[in-house]
Amino acid sequence: MSNLNENYLIDEWRIVEKKFELDDSLKNESLFTVANGYIGLRGNFEEGIDNKRFSVEGTYINGFYETHKIKYGEKAYAFPEIGQTMLNVFNAKKIKIEVDDEEFNMLHSEILDYKRVLDLKEGTLKRSVVWRTKSDKEIEINFERLASLIEKHLAAIRVTIKPINFDGEIKITSTIDCEVKNITSEDDPRVGSGIEGKALDVYKKNFNNDIIEVYARTKNSKFDLVCAAKNVVENVQFSKKEFEDNNQIGYEYKIKAERNKEIVLTKYIAYATTRDLEYCDLDKIKEEVLEKAYNDGFDKIKNSQIDYLNEFWEKADVEIDGDVNLQQGIRFNMFHILQSTGRDGITNICAKGLTGEGYEGHYFWDTEMYIVPMFTYTMPEVARKLLEYRYNILDKARDRARQMSHKKGALFSWRSINGEECSAYFPASTAQYHINADIAYAIKKYYEATNDIEFMKKYGAEVLFETARIWIDVGHYVDGRGFCIDGVTGPDEYTAIVNNNAYTNIMAKDHLKFAHDMVNILKKEDQQLFMRLKNKIALQDEEVEEWLKASNNMYIPYDDKLKIHPQDDSFLNKKVWDFENTPKDKYPLLLHYHPLVIYRHQVCKQADWVLALFLHSDMFSKEQKKRDYDYYEKVTTHDSSLSPCIFSIVACDIGYNQKAYDYFMKTARMDLEDHHGNTKDGIHAANMAGSWMGMVFGFGGFRVNKDKIKFNPIIPDKWNRYSFRVNYKGRLIKVKVEKHSVLLSLLEGEPIKVDVYNNTVLLTQDRDIEVNTVTI
Ligand code: BGC
Repeated sequence: MSNLNENYLIDEWRIVEKKFELDDSLKNESLFTVANGYIGLRGNFEEGIDNKRFSVEGTYINGFYETHKIKYGEKAYAFPEIGQTMLNVFNAKKIKIEVDDEEFNMLHSEILDYKRVLDLKEGTLKRSVVWRTKSDKEIEINFERLASLIEKHLAAIRVTIKPINFDGEIKITSTIDCEVKNITSEDDPRVGSGIEGKALDVYKKNFNNDIIEVYARTKNSKFDLVCAAKNVVENVQFSKKEFEDNNQIGYEYKIKAERNKEIVLTKYIAYATTRDLEYCDLDKIKEEVLEKAYNDGFDKIKNSQIDYLNEFWEKADVEIDGDVNLQQGIRFNMFHILQSTGRDGITNICAKGLTGEGYEGHYFWDTEMYIVPMFTYTMPEVARKLLEYRYNILDKARDRARQMSHKKGALFSWRSINGEECSAYFPASTAQYHINADIAYAIKKYYEATNDIEFMKKYGAEVLFETARIWIDVGHYVDGRGFCIDGVTGPDEYTAIVNNNAYTNIMAKDHLKFAHDMVNILKKEDQQLFMRLKNKIALQDEEVEEWLKASNNMYIPYDDKLKIHPQDDSFLNKKVWDFENTPKDKYPLLLHYHPLVIYRHQVCKQADWVLALFLHSDMFSKEQKKRDYDYYEKVTTHDSSLSPCIFSIVACDIGYNQKAYDYFMKTARMDLEDHHGNTKDGIHAANMAGSWMGMVFGFGGFRVNKDKIKFNPIIPDKWNRYSFRVNYKGRLIKVKVEKHSVLLSLLEGEPIKVDVYNNTVLLTQDRDIEVNTVTI
């Protein structure tokens, strides 16, 4: 089942599958997804696979969800009542090809040649097949598909069919399939939804001048959706008729095919929903999108896609010379992050991108802690949109805070699409109050890297202040300790509802200080605006002083005997998990042990305090970081895909170079090689962006601290060289690390001073700076 086998060509810019393997089908459907932050087309074949065990036919619209009542055996106060699930929407990919009443199909047809390619420079998915029919007719078929990175409502498919050894009739049926459902799973809490059966009620279907269109409304959430496709057949004589059965609507083409002459069918596909707050006129969007697409044609759309990606790679590319597997892995990951991310301020990034139904299309803290950093330093405008999303759901966070008995402030939900909490299991969700501080941290880093005061004025400050208020309510002073925070869960979901989770406390400390400082910045910048905001949220001067006091007095647990930071007040008093006698097949523990059994032990699912060591690396000595790291490494299972990249980054920081490399190897190709065995449910978006962080913050040693940027690069033995780019305050800086030298180039922007190891250098566009590589 591995992708590191001879069926997959290792190519720096492409993922190439040479032979169709049924066993890999589900996983590859996730990997070969094309998406544009809005529409996600799972890598299903156009003709489908008529065996549900091997295929989840999936088309997703970011943020387009259905609601359902959460069922509880026992319910308590303020438990969320309504769940949300990103819907699997109508399938417009469907294209059936028939010769002599025989249907082309990857399971049953004789396939003479096959290749499937995800092209990271083009943003296309291509499949080429040679099919031999039962009557020995050979046909070459090329499929090409994209979700436009420029026009979010548009996707397109081009099919080119060439009879190799015959003249005769070929039938093509291009449809929209309305027989779609979300998957359900009883055994894995990470998969499956509360939605049973069809969620979309079709209320209008039309044939209209080569366009097929279906309108529907969700049963509960009451959103409207239009899915439309314009079909264009070129190059040949054909007859056309409307086709409709219980589930599908489309056109059937009978084509007079000639030997060696290509038949081209182009399908321009538009999706729009009333969940897009900016506009609701579905007809208009659909018409405009399809008309423009048709006038432009597939090639022009594809060329714009290539231009867009060119620009992305110019700004963001990471090169590794000396390991082509890793090179492919890192680019694949960055590509998926780009294509999964909502860029409209209304949508965000699902834990599984737009590739599958794991975690129901929900957004988590994964966004701010893992994904935003990649954008902050490559495409800050996208980071801004992700953070604007938080502002757009701030009212829901205010509501949640009231439900949780906080009289003031806002508490962001742990997992959600529209902002309302939809997790039924509060110990590993609502209790993760650190999400408030994570969002604040991402805002701080974004502001630091861009100076985007307009963002702070319009959105950032309000989010920051409202979320800061919660700490004051949830914390209190304890004699001899300082400001303590009780009853929360940290990032490690194998330890729940504890007092003084060290990660939460240090993040809250930073959050409160930044909120306090931002008050002063805003007052100076725009007194009137500040006063308006102050009135709007009834902010008292004393509160702001309270923030600073709590921050200054925040209790960060420390164990004098072990000289480490305990994860929380009780962690070190628990029995250590019996790792030695836990067989491999009992991992991930969450699928084999009741949560209580896990909670009673010292065992971590993922980086918790170690994450704090990365985010606040300047606060601790190297010796301290080593002691903490050594301790937590022994008790961490990495059952969460969010973990290894963080261990890799901190290992780089403390000179554990081999460990850094080994952990990095677990992240860079995690989905390509299906390390967690569940890529079929979708890619692991946080880990993917985490592998970018591993390159830049880990090996590159990049840090930004109080307007100072620094690089501390190391290079693994196995690589000849690597390079990466970061954007900081309008400068595009390229860092190339070789065995013996580090080369810094300023590709765009005004001269800037940066630190490399312990030197400060001035970067200008006309001169590269070279320093010796330091071995740690
Ligand atoms: C992790 C969380 C994460 C979620 C979604 C869980 O397994 O423990 O930290 O937010 O997955 O990726």
